[in-house]
Amino acid sequence: MDGLDLTRALNAEEVRGIVRAVGEHGVICIPDQKLEPAHLKAFSGNFGELEINVASSFQEKGHPEIMILSNMLEDGKPIGLADAGQDWHTDMSYSSTVAFANILYGIKIPLRDGRPLGCTAFCDMHKAYETLPDDIRRRIAGRTATHDFNKFWEKMRREKGSTRPPLTEEQRRKKPPVSHPMVLTHPITGRSVLYANPGYTVSIDGMEAGESDEILEFLFAHQTRPEFQHRHLWAENDVLMWDNFATIHNAIADYGPQEHRLIKRCQVMADKVLANAFGVRPLT
Ligand code: SIN
Repeated sequence: MDGLDLTRALNAEEVRGIVRAVGEHGVICIPDQKLEPAHLKAFSGNFGELEINVASSFQEKGHPEIMILSNMLEDGKPIGLADAGQDWHTDMSYSSTVAFANILYGIKIPLRDGRPLGCTAFCDMHKAYETLPDDIRRRIAGRTATHDFNKFWEKMRREKGSTRPPLTEEQRRKKPPVSHPMVLTHPITGRSVLYANPGYTVSIDGMEAGESDEILEFLFAHQTRPEFQHRHLWAENDVLMWDNFATIHNAIADYGPQEHRLIKRCQVMADKVLANAFGVRPLT
């Protein structure tokens, strides 16, 4: 989306246009922005309540809704979470009110031989649902699945060498496991999407463990098939906004400690979009 200046307040028509574009495309990029933290927060706040992450100490000063994602150090100390989102997942699927959108502002993007590193990869959950075999569709119809914040957190510690400490009892209490339907009607497109993800989904409710594991294993492989994927190659000053109902994503860690990446992120909850606050009719 070109021609937008996110330092100024958007009118209702512009907000609806962005919501519609995010619903239609799953992910949109608004390039060439020069934003202060207050601008990023004000833009993001147009779309719903902003989450304050329960586990992060890397919050923007004075703006706890903005989380800093970075591998950079200052005085030998990390300035941001260095390994956020480095595997397939859906942000906030572990939350009782799920997230509508993530909004990321790219400030430093690593380059090697002129090519950007540290892309963000997406898979399309409309397509994933629409191409499910009939048998699997039947077996997940009307089902809910449990999502657990601790699953992804521990996976990062176990498999990716993350230095993040285990979640505290208090952090786990703030985000207990929750259940959501496995197939959702998308609030903007009106079409069905698969709502499960390798990062946080742990089991299918009311199903024997062996069958639940078998179906989830199938779904995780199916939903990440290369033909459903899109990669955003970042440029500095991009604002990237994506729909957490209709995509899963993965931050690709193909850069080294001296190749600096700095991104600021807001997570927009689904309160407004689920209340149809934007008057965007489903695009059936
Ligand atoms: C995230 O999962 O929100 C982080 C994505 C990224 O840094 O590319």
